[in-house]
Amino acid sequence: MKELDPTLIQLCNLLSDCETHDVEAIKNELNISAEVISQLIQNLENYGIQVNSMGDKGYTLSEPLFLLNAEEIKRRIKMDTNSLLDIEIFETLTSSNDYLKKNKNPKKIKVCLSEQQTKGKGRMGRSWYSPFGQNIYLSIAFQFKKPMNEFSGLSLIVGLSILNALRDLEMQDHVSLKWPNDVLWKDKKLAGTLVELTTDNNGVSQLIIGIGLNVNMMDSNQAEFIQAWTSLRQIINEPLNRNPISASLIENLVVYINRYAREGLMSFKEEWDKFDYLQGKEITLMQGKETFYGKVMGINDQGHLLLQLANNQIKAFSSGDASIKK
Ligand code: BTN
Repeated sequence: MKELDPTLIQLCNLLSDCETHDVEAIKNELNISAEVISQLIQNLENYGIQVNSMGDKGYTLSEPLFLLNAEEIKRRIKMDTNSLLDIEIFETLTSSNDYLKKNKNPKKIKVCLSEQQTKGKGRMGRSWYSPFGQNIYLSIAFQFKKPMNEFSGLSLIVGLSILNALRDLEMQDHVSLKWPNDVLWKDKKLAGTLVELTTDNNGVSQLIIGIGLNVNMMDSNQAEFIQAWTSLRQIINEPLNRNPISASLIENLVVYINRYAREGLMSFKEEWDKFDYLQGKEITLMQGKETFYGKVMGINDQGHLLLQLANNQIKAFSSGDASIKK
């Protein structure tokens, strides 16, 4: 675990014009020593970032690398939401969800972002590939004095809030939600969410909501991808600054989760139906060792998936992995 070093942010901002910067110029610009510069460059290389060293001439980055910046994120979030938040940003963490499980703030909505996760977690015990500086790995913890069973369908709401954030950024075309938690662009996975719920002895439920959004990732040899994926950069063909996107994700999540806690899942039903990728499709649903085939008939008031089986019976599923029947 390492908190994001503000000087590393400054260095990356400076090098993000992809011009050559000599050590003297960097020293003067950032007011740091040559030793500190070489240590920061070493850190970047250890995180897998390619920094070109031009000998005496200095350093260049082949690609812009704008790191996450708490000040910029806060500046972009409306004042009334901002005052509710406690935001922390790390260079590296095992998993932002796990960090929030251990580090609570009962008075605030705690937000954690990390440039890298060494043990990023996906649904169903899978891992979530989390390379340094490329994507958004964000977790938010909410507390409500309500029992855990009142939060069914929560991951659907998280998906809707991501979609709305993408709409704010004018990136919503071809985006849909695949029950229960995938954000797709066309047929490829753009983001996933991992919701973890606990209730303490006083009846206070802790909602830990983790979002992994592929932003600048272009390629990967990772065998762990079991599903075709894409990133915002692949879609729009240019690298993106993750700070405005993070701010929009946080802002939308706070709005959606508070409305969900007040009004319940069904007040979002129409919005869900509009973006439901599986609606009307013939699918295979894997649940544990069992496999079911059927036609998707939407969701019920718990957010469970309704499947019309071969015998015409409609069965509700609270969890499972869906794939389109070929
Ligand atoms: C999935 O689609 O399987 C869910 C992926 C969730 C990934 C995010 S990244 C931020 C947060 N921290 C984690 O360890 N996982 C979630």
